[in-house]
Amino acid sequence: MTHFGVTLSQFIMEEQRRFPEATGNFTLLLNDIAVSCKMIAAAVQKGQLANILGATDNENCQGETQQILDVIANDLFIKNNAKRGHVAAMASEEMDDVYEIPKGSPRGSYLLIFDPLDGSSNIEINGPIGTIFSILKTDKENPTEADFLKEGVEQVCAGYCLYGSATMMVLTIGFGTHGFTLDPAIGEFILTHPNMTIPKETAEYAINHSNRNLWEPPMRDYVEACDLGKEGPRKKKYTMRWVGAMVMDIHRLIQRGGIFAYPMDSSLTEKGGRLRLMYEANPMALLVEQAGGIASTGYERILNLDPQHLHQRVPVIMGSTEDMTIILDNHKSYAKETGKEFTHKCEQYQ
Ligand code: F6P
Ligand code: MN
Repeated sequence: MTHFGVTLSQFIMEEQRRFPEATGNFTLLLNDIAVSCKMIAAAVQKGQLANILGATDNENCQGETQQILDVIANDLFIKNNAKRGHVAAMASEEMDDVYEIPKGSPRGSYLLIFDPLDGSSNIEINGPIGTIFSILKTDKENPTEADFLKEGVEQVCAGYCLYGSATMMVLTIGFGTHGFTLDPAIGEFILTHPNMTIPKETAEYAINHSNRNLWEPPMRDYVEACDLGKEGPRKKKYTMRWVGAMVMDIHRLIQRGGIFAYPMDSSLTEKGGRLRLMYEANPMALLVEQAGGIASTGYERILNLDPQHLHQRVPVIMGSTEDMTIILDNHKSYAKETGKEFTHKCEQYQ
């Protein structure tokens, strides 16, 4: 059966058959997420015509100035999910604490965690931006932060919506990574990229090069070797790409292979890294692994990290297996030299 023409809701309903105990709530939750993303896409496309570009006077708990669109996107997720009865609680990059479902509203058994608008420095330049989300299951009626702090392997669903030249939703419920393109004529996400598979080999990497003097040796060695091109140990010419919006940089590598890295550097030691574990690293790691890639901090598999708090930051390195193997080998040797712990194990890297 060709998948073309299948809508996101039809796809999820078919997938639900894998779980005979399913009640349909998960399908409804994904519908609400899709509606939220379509509304964000509509706002993003209007851009300055709707007078929604620019910064607010607020900072989020990460100390970043909130853009007007960050706030709009966060509000849309809250409005479309809070009272629908599918989630037990929510958390987001833009909210310091767990969002509790209003008293008297029905509640479900899912925890929804999201980065409403990733790459927000691209908003004002009309560059690609996205939404990232992760879904966990809970049996608590009034979940607290501690209930969110589960290993990434526990995610029942992870996905992102990319507001690029086309709007695309890419998601996994643990059986492959699948891409849907928004058909603006009918307002539906259509399955256009079933079973996305990251090519094992690559000659492309994405990293903020301006931090190179601060990186740890394993990452610096990898990039230096790539940059030597055909004459270097990799014996091929590499290209560097950095959009500055994780959703776009990861989407590119899921489509055509590559490495994405925001590694540990000496300016980030205190923070623990740059990207957030719960709503950036974990969902992207599940999508990348489900598409056949590897996702690591350099030393540990991201999906096996034990989260300490909602807004925790971690180093992130993910992508094509061949180059990830070189990067992990670099970290392994460095760990041996320095007495650091190296525990990364997964199907693709033993
Ligand atoms: O959310 C954090 C983020 O905006 C990512 O989307 C992106 O990959 C990264 O930060 C960009 O970092 P930098 O400002 O160093 O380019
Ligand atoms: Mn982000």
